[in-house]
Amino acid sequence: MATSPWLLLAIVGNIFDLTARELWLRASQWAKLYGDVAYLRVFGQGLLFLNTYEAAIDLLDKKGSIYSDKPSLVMAGELCGCENMVAFTRYGDQSRRQRRLMQKALGPSAIPSYHSLLEIETQALLKRLLDDPLNYDGHLRRYAGSLTLLVVYGYRVVSNDDPFLTLAEDCVEIISNRIASGGGIWPVDVFPFLKHIPVWFPGAGFKRNAIKWKAKMEEFVDKPYELVKTRMISDSEDAAQQEFDIKWTANSMYSASLDTTMTVIRHFLLLMELYPDAVIKAQKEIDSVVGTHRLPTFSDRPSLPYVDAIMSECLRWGAPVPLGLPHRLMDDDVYKGFFIPQGTLVFSNVWNMTRNPQTFPDPDSFIPERYLQNDSYTVTDGQDPRSFVFGFGRRRCPGSHLVESSLWIVMVCVLATLDVSKEADAHGRPIEPTVVYENSVFRCVQTELSPLRLAPLQSVDGSK
Ligand code: HEM
Repeated sequence: MATSPWLLLAIVGNIFDLTARELWLRASQWAKLYGDVAYLRVFGQGLLFLNTYEAAIDLLDKKGSIYSDKPSLVMAGELCGCENMVAFTRYGDQSRRQRRLMQKALGPSAIPSYHSLLEIETQALLKRLLDDPLNYDGHLRRYAGSLTLLVVYGYRVVSNDDPFLTLAEDCVEIISNRIASGGGIWPVDVFPFLKHIPVWFPGAGFKRNAIKWKAKMEEFVDKPYELVKTRMISDSEDAAQQEFDIKWTANSMYSASLDTTMTVIRHFLLLMELYPDAVIKAQKEIDSVVGTHRLPTFSDRPSLPYVDAIMSECLRWGAPVPLGLPHRLMDDDVYKGFFIPQGTLVFSNVWNMTRNPQTFPDPDSFIPERYLQNDSYTVTDGQDPRSFVFGFGRRRCPGSHLVESSLWIVMVCVLATLDVSKEADAHGRPIEPTVVYENSVFRCVQTELSPLRLAPLQSVDGSK
């Protein structure tokens, strides 16, 4: 076995390295010190960070047969009841059945059938944004949640405080900020005997929390499903397994779509606020193709390269899931002469990929032009943010085709109709947005800290 400089990290690694806020920043400091890959051991658990697109493709994609498992987490899985959610499902028959179902619902060939629904939902969103701009965060959350509720359960949301939206919001917060914070590894995952300690025992707070959270997760999985199950299940022999698969897969699509979609739209609004020149350029393009008397539709997309460039740059700059979700290595492996033991949890350092100055010169700036050549939208593999922001290999995000359409239609329609600018303080001075990232898994923008102003767009000739 070869030794490597990145193994040095094993000596210094401890649990505090993992629970740091914006762990992706720390992981990217390790990338500067250790290169393409960095290996850390916490409580004996090996953690591998893949810091470049090439390393992630080499391992997660090309060696997908051994890099597609998920960790068996006692706390998240057994104690909190998340073990059958797709993102936590071990690699095998169940995960394959679940992914087949999702491919049917969300594969590229299914998406055009949602286009008119997406256009209608976006019009409704625009109306709400215009009627009640201060509550924009609630409207966006409703758009993100109601789309999946409609596509997955056929359920139509009727208000911003719909009980299913609130339930999902609470549960996603519990999963991403409490259960899965710091990679989702709890002392009980390293020392499974701890699960037997009684709930009243000092230090058993995790068990008391797990009981509460598990009850909430059961409600989250069962309630929306109860509404629609009679429509979904056939009378076949394996009806029980079918019911189980559909119930958990539906819940997984719903829970995985909320914070991710919101994160990208909130970054889009933030960037529109910060980069007015890009907005003007996009609006000119839209005006020349669509005119000022109708809303853009999907049929306009091929003629709107600058809007596509804006969308790509929002995905890159926003880096919605900056460390991906962990994969578990199923066999010992060797990469570039370095030994990686079976059982290692592998994170793709998407954040570092989005900030790679070789691929993206001046990476902290928002520059849609980096995707344009002679005014046409052009990206190479590895430069297209879609090749890393949705993860890698056999566990790559199954929702990527849906968001490709659902994000684009919102962005183009907002650009066509709304003026997004900085909110003013009591003296009329613009408030500079403060962006703080609190969530441990998603790069969610905290709206209350970064207020923005939405108003109907007045075009230069006053025709809107
Ligand atoms: C911009 C929006 C989104 C982003 C950036 C995103 C990103 C990701 C990432 C990075 C992963 C981990 C992939 C890996 O393990 O390598 C993932 C997994 C997943 N995503 Fe998404 N996602 C988005 C939207 C959605 C939507 C709309 C849905 C469903 C409707 C969805 C469903 C899922 C599911 C079920 C998984 C788990 C897949 C598995 O473990 O096999 N995502 N997503």
